[in-house]
Amino acid sequence: MEQKSFVRQADLGDINDIIKINRQCLPENYSFDFFYRIITDFGFACVIAEQDDQVVGYLLCRIERPFSSFLGMNPVKGHVISIAVLPKYRRQGLGVEIMKYGMKKMIEQKISSVYLEVRVSNIAAVEMYKKLGYYIKKEHKEYYRDGESAFVMEWGKREENEDTFSDLSSQ
Ligand SMILES: CC(C)(COP(=O)(O)OP(=O)(O)OC[C@H]1O[C@@H](n2cnc3c(N)ncnc32)[C@H](O)[C@@H]1OP(=O)(O)O)[C@@H](O)C(=O)NCCC(=O)NCCS
Repeated sequence: MEQKSFVRQADLGDINDIIKINRQCLPENYSFDFFYRIITDFGFACVIAEQDDQVVGYLLCRIERPFSSFLGMNPVKGHVISIAVLPKYRRQGLGVEIMKYGMKKMIEQKISSVYLEVRVSNIAAVEMYKKLGYYIKKEHKEYYRDGESAFVMEWGKREENEDTFSDLSSQ
């Protein structure tokens, strides 16, 4: 019988599982060291979904704090680096759940917005991000190695996102 899923903060012991899911689900793959660095520095905003006694999904985020943000010029931003859920566990709400967990953690760091890049053909991901209140900010032509373009999508504390924001802040 299928077990209930749960979501938690990622730690360094999850890296091998994350790498396995990343390679299975996405063409954008990273080295062990890259994952190690992200989780060491921003583990509070990196998330794991577990079900059936295994890791079935992950989210990696980082906070980008430009030097000029200390002078009050450029705002601190959250960046969604990578997210994936194993095919068997999709369409159960896990993608949204791990995104909300990561966004809540980034909001606690006083970010003013969150951005991400997504392949223009990736309807599932684009729809999920829209559901979370992200909008397409611009198209980055030939962003990926294979020549595909990316949408840069952004979520900000704008009026129309007040509901998502208070929803996340009160969890
Ligand atoms: C994108 C991804 C993480 C979504 O995970 P998920 O657990 O299936 O997402 P959810 O179940 O929370 O779905 C949330 C919403 O996203 C949209 N969505 C998800 N899959 C979809 C699909 N195949 N087609 C259209 N919309 C889809 C729907 O609006 C869905 O809400 P609904 O089920 O109420 O209609 C998953 O499809 C995945 O791992 N894809 C491969 C990796 C990837 O593309 N990552 C993103 C890189 S930018």
